[in-house]
Order: sequence, then structure tokens, then C-alpha cells
Amino acid sequence: MTTKYNYLYNGNNLLNQGKAEINENVFDNYWEILPIEKTQITEDKINLKLKKEQSASLFVQSEKKAVLAIQKHAMNIAGKEKNPQMDEAYFLLGESRYYDQRFIPSLEAFNYILFKYPTSELVNKAKIWREKINAKQNYNQLAIENLKEIESRGRLSNEEIVISCESEDVLITFTVDDFTSKVKSNKKKTILDSALDNDIDAPYSCNGGVCGSCIGKLTKGEVKMLNNTVLSESEITDGLILACQAIAISDEVDVDFDDV
Ligand code: FES
Repeated sequence: MTTKYNYLYNGNNLLNQGKAEINENVFDNYWEILPIEKTQITEDKINLKLKKEQSASLFVQSEKKAVLAIQKHAMNIAGKEKNPQMDEAYFLLGESRYYDQRFIPSLEAFNYILFKYPTSELVNKAKIWREKINAKQNYNQLAIENLKEIESRGRLSNEEIVISCESEDVLITFTVDDFTSKVKSNKKKTILDSALDNDIDAPYSCNGGVCGSCIGKLTKGEVKMLNNTVLSESEITDGLILACQAIAISDEVDVDFDDV
């Protein structure tokens, strides 16, 4: 309780503030390859540079909270950790260092979770973050292969699949009634929600994956369906998706609701 509501709680708050500052101040350029996260800020704009420094200091502070949680509350008895929240503390440590762009120390924190807490609920997330670090260091092929292996074991929850997406932003092109529109959205939203949030008249009814009203054709990019009791394997192979169940896993996705 003490760890959770003091060092960890405050550390996570600081981390989230830092991430929010970055999200507010960095805009993706869709003409260039997008970064994994919004951590790269244009250095020649002084105000943005200052914001970056503020965010960085928030990440340093959240890292300090994680270190304090570990130092003050770790209960290593006969080689076994007895404090069930220590994996969370190491995760906060890894994330803070990652956003502070110190990737090797960040990797050490995630590796420690995998080594020390193999039954932790955070193991899959730690593995995914490890691959994000690989990608950050341009070991893209290695990261892709390792992520595929993690997913092929079928142990990822939907939330973890979303986390494994390289960037949270997605550019979606919708075609409805011969009208095409592009919207910037978030990969955590379903394709249908992205359409409705942008006043695009996409077809739907149940919004629960059972009626089939929201079927569209994926003509570009990749999606993952959270649930599917409507489409057959061959229809999926032909590119059909349930928009109310599909989340984007590539940075660009085109969906045509006319071509079904
Ligand atoms: S709206 Fe019914 S299946 Fe998507």
C-alpha cells in the first residue's frame, strides 16, 4: 500500500505528465517515417526545446520515484522478492528511462523484470518494451521477428497488442458513398469509432461485432480484429473487416465501405 500510494503513484503521475507534454507539443509529419513514439522534438524551435527539457526532467523525477520505491520497499528475503509491487517499480524505471531516451539503462530495467519476475503480469509488456528499444536502436528486423514470436505464442491481451503498435497515431482513409476522407486517429480506437468521431457516415448497427452492418474492405494497411463471429477466414483473406472490431496496427489504413 505504502509503495503504491507514494513513490509508485507519484512516479506514474510524473511519467504521465511527461508523456502528455510530449503529445501536446509534437506533431507527426506523415510525409516522413513516423517515430515509434512522440519523443523526438525539432531542436531548432526554441520553445519546443524548452518543452522537451521540461518533459525530460519529469522523466528524471519519475525515475527517481521508481528508484526510491525499489530502495525503500524491496523485500528480498532468501533471494526471493516478497513485495508484489516491485515489478511495477522496475517497469516505471524502464519507461522513465526510455522516455528520457536512455535506452540501454531502460533495457536493463525491463530485462530485470523478465529475469527476476518471470510470473509477473508485466512480463509480456516488458518483452514488448524491450523490442521497442531494439527498434529505437535501428534493430528493426530483430524487433519485428521477436514481436511476431511473442504474438505467435498467443499470450498477448488486446491491450498488449495495442501497446506493441509502433506508434499510437494512424492515418485512416475512409471511402463511404463514393466520398473519400482522410482522418488522423489513434490506434486504441476501433476503425468505426475513428469514423464516427470524425462525422464520417460509416455503416453500423450493433457496434458489438454481431450484426455485420459495419463490414468494410481493407485496401491498405493492417488491422487486428478484437472479436469476430461474422466473417469467414476466406472473407478476411479477401480484405473484409468488421470496422467496429478492428483496430489499426499499421500507421496508415484505407477502408472502403462501398466495395463490399
Ligand atoms: S456494427 Fe454490428 S458487427 Fe459491427
